[in-house]
Amino acid sequence: MSTFQFLQNSTPVGDAERAALLREPQFGSVFTDHMATLRWSVERGWHDGRIEAVAPLSYHPANAAFHYGQQIFEGMKAYRCDGNALLFRPVENARRLARSAERMAMVCPPEDLFLEAIESLVNVDARWIPDGDGSLYLRPFVIADDVFLGVRPASRYLFCVIASPVGSYFKGGAQPITVWVSETYSRAARGGTGAAKCGGNYAGSLIAQSEAIEQGCDQVVFLDAAEGRWIEELGGMNIFFVLDDGELVTPPLGTILPGVTRDAVITLARQAGRRVTERPYSFDQWRSDAASGRLVETFVCGTAATIVPVGQVRFASGDFIVADGSCGSLTAELRDLLQDIQRGRADDPHGWRYSI
Ligand code: COI
Repeated sequence: MSTFQFLQNSTPVGDAERAALLREPQFGSVFTDHMATLRWSVERGWHDGRIEAVAPLSYHPANAAFHYGQQIFEGMKAYRCDGNALLFRPVENARRLARSAERMAMVCPPEDLFLEAIESLVNVDARWIPDGDGSLYLRPFVIADDVFLGVRPASRYLFCVIASPVGSYFKGGAQPITVWVSETYSRAARGGTGAAKCGGNYAGSLIAQSEAIEQGCDQVVFLDAAEGRWIEELGGMNIFFVLDDGELVTPPLGTILPGVTRDAVITLARQAGRRVTERPYSFDQWRSDAASGRLVETFVCGTAATIVPVGQVRFASGDFIVADGSCGSLTAELRDLLQDIQRGRADDPHGWRYSI
């Protein structure tokens, strides 16, 4: 029997309106008809699973999520393939949510309930999965649901999944982006919450991201908090560097988000015979490798972004171009291969696809 009871309380958007909304939606601005909800309390465990009309959530103003930021989330996508929906490594999202929950002293649903929520929502809202290059972005999240102003972990939580049909994350699609290296703000420190997917990490990135936009850039790159020297990640994605001897370098895990796409890129590049190293790479090295020609490509990756080349880098005292500023061949190859696997157009040797 399903954990998620279907509540017939929505008035689904009509086909013509939906078709209009699906025409090049700005990332994260259009939502489907339904959401999945599931509640947890000390007394009852996970209970009251529902698929219901997407609607505002109503909370007491003393909810701990408003005050102490007990909030975690995930990002994943469903793709349309021959009348089915395909997910990409959803168990990895369930596991990462569990690690984020542990770090934030929260509770999150076990893998089977996480997957059941996703599947139930995608089944009900399958008509919202865009054709072509688009996908249905799924946003599972957990928030505290306690009415108490003392500082302690909440004793009640809400797990919710919403869905949003999306195209490219960046306005220019897969065109090379320009990034801004922040030498003022850092994202995460050792022992902090950098590896957790919690709203606070993103809130803390916004001032630096605004600076990036003011400088005419698409995204901000953060350096480590201790020395301000080592490249960590962007505001919402991981980063890779391709060197002229074929090595693919990416910053090591620890204070950065362990991206599911990052992990897939490492696996696919190794499978293609590349040497991939997860090692510290400094901003100074990036600049000097770009100047000497040792750096041949730089790209960023994430669920929302997929794989996008970096063409130009700006910072307070200058800027530089990555190679000739266009999309490099390894970036394009990995992007095509990843998307073909995700969309069911290529073999799936690692069993990453999950069909609904
Ligand atoms: C994702 O890639 O799913 C994220 O959560 C990052 C955000 C920039 C949308």
